[in-house]
Amino acid sequence: MSVERLETIRTEFLSEIAAAGANPDAIEELRIKYAGRRSGLLQDLNQTLRTLPKDEKRAYGQGLNELKKLVDEQLKQAKTKAAAGSASAHDVDITLPGVKLHRGAKHPVNIVRRRIEDIFLRMGYDVEAGPEIEDDWHNFEALNMPPDHPARDDQDTFYVPGGLVLRTHTSPVQTRVMESRTPPIRIVVPGRVYRRDSDLRHSPMFHQIEGLVVDEDITFGNLKATLETFLHALFHDHNVDVRFRPSFFPFTEPSAEVDITCIFCEGKGCSVCSRSGWIEILGSGMVDPRVFDKVGIDAERYTGFAFGLGLDRVAMLQYGIPDLRQLFVGDQRLTRLFE
Ligand code: PHE
Repeated sequence: MSVERLETIRTEFLSEIAAAGANPDAIEELRIKYAGRRSGLLQDLNQTLRTLPKDEKRAYGQGLNELKKLVDEQLKQAKTKAAAGSASAHDVDITLPGVKLHRGAKHPVNIVRRRIEDIFLRMGYDVEAGPEIEDDWHNFEALNMPPDHPARDDQDTFYVPGGLVLRTHTSPVQTRVMESRTPPIRIVVPGRVYRRDSDLRHSPMFHQIEGLVVDEDITFGNLKATLETFLHALFHDHNVDVRFRPSFFPFTEPSAEVDITCIFCEGKGCSVCSRSGWIEILGSGMVDPRVFDKVGIDAERYTGFAFGLGLDRVAMLQYGIPDLRQLFVGDQRLTRLFE
């Protein structure tokens, strides 16, 4: 009877210690329950030993000793396991690969800007900048857009108190540079521009890069050769054709818009190029002599060409970004792709 009780307790203990695993609190609870000095079960069983008749004492005593030994050993093992577990949670294992920290990345628009600047720096151009809050003169008037000129409507303007505007293009920097320098001028001007527009292809703030060359004997042939060289360099990993279409800008005459073959369908026609096989990439033209008059450059002696293109649009094309506004919401999932 009493020996059988030992057996039951032994089975119970083994299943409880297994359940406790490496949990230090559970192990301690079991230690108190079984091996506790004052009210532990083993202590109780010791008491029972005294009350037994002689002939049962021997077998029971032996069983009890074995049980004690088992409980001791099992508790010790469990404690070692628990200690090992907590050590590995806190200690540093220097053989593990490190956690990679994100160092930040260049924004795709800046990558494109730098590439374009580099192409023109190699051709001998300087990189210039100008203010984003402009006066009417530099943004419109000097570029041959007097107050009632209809072309002002094309560029839904943000007005700033005091007769100022958020520049609607980078062309006002043309005005500033021509006013303050004598030719030869060879510049590119990257920067932010603003228009009241927001959809898949437009954001109220976007980026352009402007180009301006003014010197003696600059011809439309120079414009064409320069832009072809530039576009082939920019899209060097695609085999693009370049085509010029007559167009109109108030500050250039003649003017041309420039298309490249669609880099997604290679000219076959797809949704990106609206089935046309071509993608419009920039606006350009010969500087209108009236602009030279306004900025004080001798239009008899000098000619020049100018061009402007959207950096964001190039970034969208080159990296397959479907919504232009994705570029400006600061989502790190986008920039991490460029680390
Ligand atoms: N400023 C024009 C625009 O924003 C682009 C352009 C620049 C056209 C220079 C001709 C010459 O649309």
